[in-house]
Amino acid sequence: MSEFRITGKAKLAGVIGHPVTHSLSPVLHNYWLARKEIDGAYVPLSVAPDVFVTAVKGLQASGFRGANVTIPHKEAAFAIADEVDPMARIAGSVNTLVFREDGTIHGSSTDGFGYIANLEADGIDVTALANRGPALLLGAGGAARSIATSLLEKGFQVIFSNRTAERADGLANELDAAWRRHFPKGDAPRLSTVAWDKWEEQLSELALVVNTTSLGMQGGPAPDWTPDLSRASSHLVVSDIVYVPQETLFLKAAKERGLTTSGGLGMLLHQARPGFKAWFGADTEVDEATAAYIRAALNKR
Ligand SMILES: NC(=O)c1ccc[n+]([C@@H]2O[C@H](COP(=O)([O-])OP(=O)(O)OC[C@H]3O[C@@H](n4cnc5c(N)ncnc54)[C@H](OP(=O)(O)O)[C@@H]3O)[C@@H](O)[C@H]2O)c1
Repeated sequence: MSEFRITGKAKLAGVIGHPVTHSLSPVLHNYWLARKEIDGAYVPLSVAPDVFVTAVKGLQASGFRGANVTIPHKEAAFAIADEVDPMARIAGSVNTLVFREDGTIHGSSTDGFGYIANLEADGIDVTALANRGPALLLGAGGAARSIATSLLEKGFQVIFSNRTAERADGLANELDAAWRRHFPKGDAPRLSTVAWDKWEEQLSELALVVNTTSLGMQGGPAPDWTPDLSRASSHLVVSDIVYVPQETLFLKAAKERGLTTSGGLGMLLHQARPGFKAWFGADTEVDEATAAYIRAALNKR
């Protein structure tokens, strides 16, 4: 590894959040920078909502190439971008800002990309899966919004089920309207909802079920959450975006039934790739060494 990796010409990026201490992005990006011997740095930036715009302008003025944006700034990041990717526009949320040389800001939402890339890395043929049946998303928060948009783009029929039913209805209606606005001549998106106490009854008709809630997460509202998968067909793919623990009880139960599963850590790693490429100019690998490094960082917490 180069002795003087960070020089006065270093390429700079960071993650803006409030709080930002929980973010694994600095660990991940600096790991890739060191591994590729790139003259660059990626820093955590704790920014309160009322100074978000000032902070972004300050980063631009200081020569930063861009930033990731996390809670609570994803809508503000959408608003500050001069141009946003179609899927970010439909989701109404941005997590990756790229500062262009002409002073404009480009925004994208890479969570959905990361989710799909992780399914593919796990050997799942996503296009074939979309033809097999609907995807059921458990949850209707920020992660569900990005993942649902990318699943719609892949041709899935998307069903939401959420503890707070109005939030699921609201998200389905909002995505439906945004999709029709963006693709006025295209097919209407296939979106619906099912009651939180009824989704297990739908399992036999599904191709994919995704947990996007914090259920099953260590330290979350119900770490021992284990739904009843007895109605699942043998071709159901079960995925969980919770990554602590890496194998949730939901995934464990699915594996015990012989179902194909996909965990949450890969999504976290893949969603970082487009930003790294834009800011530091290099492709990244999501391989076992990267996953092991991030697992070690998680274990130290
Ligand atoms: N792998 C990754 O890269 C990645 C990326 C983003 C997020 N995540 C994980 O995804 C999870 C959700 O993140 P988010 O940003 O979408 O959060 P969010 O916007 O706060 O949404 C949280 C969701 O969890 C549901 N929920 C919370 N407690 C519940 C309970 N006791 N019973 C039933 N539902 C409950 C909420 O339902 P209500 O609407 O009823 O409150 C809501 O649908 C977190 O665990 C986060 O760590 C992973």
